Amino acid sequence: MAYTVPKLTDYSAAALTQAAEECTLSCREEEAAIRNDDELKTFRDRWLGRKNGILTQINEVWLKGAPKEAKREAGIRVNELKARIQELVEGAKVAGSASFHSSDIESVDITLPGARRPIGSEHPVAKTTRELVAVFQKLGYSVADGPVVETDYYNFEALNFPPNHPARDTQDTLFIAGQQSKPARERLLLRTHTSPVQIRTMEKMRPPIRIVIPGTVHRNDPPDASHSPMFHQIEGLAVDTNITFGDLKGTLDHAMKEFFGSSVKTSFRPSFFPFTEPSAEMYVSCFICGGSGRRGSDPCRPCKQSGWIEILGCGMVDPNVFEFVKDNGYDPKKVSGFAFGMGADRIALLKYGVDDIQLFFQGDVRFLEQWG
Ligand code: PHE
Repeated sequence: MAYTVPKLTDYSAAALTQAAEECTLSCREEEAAIRNDDELKTFRDRWLGRKNGILTQINEVWLKGAPKEAKREAGIRVNELKARIQELVEGAKVAGSASFHSSDIESVDITLPGARRPIGSEHPVAKTTRELVAVFQKLGYSVADGPVVETDYYNFEALNFPPNHPARDTQDTLFIAGQQSKPARERLLLRTHTSPVQIRTMEKMRPPIRIVIPGTVHRNDPPDASHSPMFHQIEGLAVDTNITFGDLKGTLDHAMKEFFGSSVKTSFRPSFFPFTEPSAEMYVSCFICGGSGRRGSDPCRPCKQSGWIEILGCGMVDPNVFEFVKDNGYDPKKVSGFAFGMGADRIALLKYGVDDIQLFFQGDVRFLEQWG
């Protein structure tokens, strides 16, 4: 049966593909049946004829009949089909003539571009984490991890947050429901920081240790441009004989220079964490404005014009923490150590100039594609 252009009612991608395939197939069949030059001319006019050729009809019937929202997609499909038919018809030969034509033996046109499967790219938070972890690995640190669903004991108690201590309020916690029948220290929660892995690792490994702990943590913070109920931390812990605050400063200063570039400076300011004493917040000189607080004639926003950006919390491991793992060789009279914890997402936001943390977790391909 000779091909006639059907009216389309269904403009879905699948229906358009099918209609285009039927048309191409008919064109191939007609081409294969051409016996002489006259038939070849008739074939060409029938498909490509300007006034009433099949391609002209397809333009009329398919495109004009398309509902508004399908017009664009239908237009693209019709153009593809036209290019294919045109190539077919222009290359058509009288059957039996010696020349080779791929359509004689193939029903798949291997000259069409293939389906694209992009490889993707590393997520900026994963990249930041990997790079920071690598800085510490080069210093001899190994990587440790622990559970995201944690007990009260590891998340708080063994880190020197006693039950009901107000310091717990600084980490707005998501508790697992239905735990009331358990003793307080066994109740489950989503870890609010990666610090519980300090305890878990010290229970397993005797000193000396040097570890970094990347991982997800959760807090009951409503999402906004700088908060997310799930985010990522990188923790560090070094314990040995005679570790001093000087080691802490030297190690972190070196790590920041490796990560942000050798021109950044660090500054340590007193702070409080129950599990370190003394505790500090570490700032780096703003790597965006170079520490000047200004970008040209504009104020530098990321450092709030101060020239310094807060990067992490740190301090010397509190002897009370060692008491919980004393039996594994951590006698606070014999060993000392330092610990630090930083937000990988926050560092990625600053480093890549992203202004909304939510973009990291929405999975929008248009955002993620930019990191290829
Ligand atoms: N766990 C702390 C927090 O999440 C950070 C920290 C880690 C501070 C290690 C000191 C030592 O805020």
